[in-house]
Amino acid sequence: MNKAFNEINRYKELLDLEKAEKRSCIHSFHRYFGKLIPAIPAFAIKNFTEKGDWVCDPFAGSGTTLVEAKLNGRNALGFEINPFSCSISNVKTTAIDTLVLESLNELLLRDIQADNEPITDEEVPFCINRDHWFKDFVQVELARINRNINDFFSKHDTSLSGVEQNDVINFYRMVLSSIIRNVSNADIQHVFPGYSKRLRRLDAEGKREIKVFNSFRNALNKKTKGLKEYEGLGKTEVVIENKDSRFIKPGDYPEAALIVTNPPYISSIRYIETVKLELYWMEFIFSGDDYKALEKRMIGNDRLQRFDYIEPEITPYENINRIVDEVYALDAKSGNVVGRYFNEMTDIIQNMNGLLKTGGHVVMKISDSKVKKIKIETGLFLTEIAEMYGFKLVDCFIDKIGNRSLLTARNTYSDIITHDYIAIWQKEEDVGGV
Ligand SMILES: C[S@@+](CC[C@H](N)C(=O)[O-])C[C@H]1O[C@@H](n2cnc3c(N)ncnc32)[C@H](O)[C@@H]1O
Repeated sequence: MNKAFNEINRYKELLDLEKAEKRSCIHSFHRYFGKLIPAIPAFAIKNFTEKGDWVCDPFAGSGTTLVEAKLNGRNALGFEINPFSCSISNVKTTAIDTLVLESLNELLLRDIQADNEPITDEEVPFCINRDHWFKDFVQVELARINRNINDFFSKHDTSLSGVEQNDVINFYRMVLSSIIRNVSNADIQHVFPGYSKRLRRLDAEGKREIKVFNSFRNALNKKTKGLKEYEGLGKTEVVIENKDSRFIKPGDYPEAALIVTNPPYISSIRYIETVKLELYWMEFIFSGDDYKALEKRMIGNDRLQRFDYIEPEITPYENINRIVDEVYALDAKSGNVVGRYFNEMTDIIQNMNGLLKTGGHVVMKISDSKVKKIKIETGLFLTEIAEMYGFKLVDCFIDKIGNRSLLTARNTYSDIITHDYIAIWQKEEDVGGV
């Protein structure tokens, strides 16, 4: 690396300026752990792209980068392994005529209130320990809303095309998913679902009122208003792929001018677990096996079997192997979680090179970690890997961690995160995809 990592920071001021700007309320459509702050993609888009360029996020999550791309007149390309997250991103980047939507919302709310047909067992989705997570009446009311969403266009004649009807149904499903955690027994103050002492006490004292219909109606109104922000903006394209970013074919997609992303952390956040109730309720998964399979495809996951760590995971990088060996000596599984992380991120970096045009930029928020008390300089290592795969380092600076709840969540699984960096790389030469 030709410049000392972390000694240059000419872009920090520009990001700080962007942080002072007002943010779109579309970003708050859905709770999602590990969200980027919108100022990061906003700043990157304004500094590294022109109108009409493609902006990509290989770990799209709930779509912060994609929303900012659309709001700024850029096309958006996202990859994401979790189908539920893809659905959130899709809805957040789909403009719907809000006047039409408001009149449809009235009909939907009336349908739900007028529906007193009993709910059948088949209408309540499978969810592990469902009765632990949802009170009986909550299950019934959620199922009733879901039924009326599903039946909506068979009951009401509209002039909407099939695609427009689909957009409306996806929007309603996203609204429903956004209230699931609030009406469940999982404490919303916690990152991972858990029926906390606090909620149990409130329930025992009869002090918690769960109003499923009201929550849905409020969320519907709020998010419908949010969509107004897209009105009057020029048309842009959005492509969201429910794929593992390690295995995509970059040549299948338009060349991007910019990638803005925050990759998963080493062994820290179990993203899937944070949304498990929504995954089951919205029927993105149907069994514990589906859940485990999805979890194991997440980069940085720590769901390794014993045979996965009989030997230390070797990477092509001497300095990373040294760290892997050090962690492995303390705890074999953790050592291999670290080694795998860098091997998997190597595939991602190669694919990022393939997705970008020459001269294009990557703006990445990266966190260093401590695993078994050993500091892992993730930002530095990923930058070194990027330099082997056609990128040069343009800038790198420390960004403070803004989200306290996330800090707590990270600490549960790895030691405290020492730093969050913003690293900016530029593609110098084409190395293609994996
Ligand atoms: C830090 S979050 C990104 C959050 C996003 N920037 C936002 O604002 O919502 C990382 C995301 O990477 C996704 N992910 C993990 N492994 C992946 C893989 N192999 N391919 C694609 N996405 C993956 C996770 O599901 C998670 O949504």
